[in-house]
Amino acid sequence: MQWSQQMSVGIPEIDDDHKQLIRVINRLEADANDETRLHALRQSLRGLQRYAEFHFAREERVMAACDYPGLDEHKTEHRDFVARIAELNRRLAENPDHATSEVNDALLSFLKDWLTHHILIEDKAYQPYAEESPAAREAAKSFQAAEIWWGQ
Ligand SMILES: [Fe+2]
Repeated sequence: MQWSQQMSVGIPEIDDDHKQLIRVINRLEADANDETRLHALRQSLRGLQRYAEFHFAREERVMAACDYPGLDEHKTEHRDFVARIAELNRRLAENPDHATSEVNDALLSFLKDWLTHHILIEDKAYQPYAEESPAAREAAKSFQAAEIWWGQ
């Protein structure tokens, strides 16, 4: 999967965050081998928890800065993302020997769905507000991105 201009929300820092998510999807798809899958999956889940912290904080600050009217509903979707990742993490921790491929598949389909439903629809919806707002563009810079991957 590749990031394309069609996915842009008009704020470069947020686009960069979204590119990281695509890297996670590609990594999960590439790691079909059982030996490395559990490790990659644990890293992804841990990385996604950290990612959710800085990325959602960034987006919410951007939306607040441009008085985006859909902020509250949008925040609810972010909270649901965090809850879903926590649930998958729990499922894996309870049964790492047997739940690996099931959790891997569940995470992959959740992230792909997130990309098409959340990023392409909900995130795109704030673009007209954020893009034209100097305060929103400034707010986007107030969070530093952390890289999800730390190598093998
Ligand atoms: Fe969002």
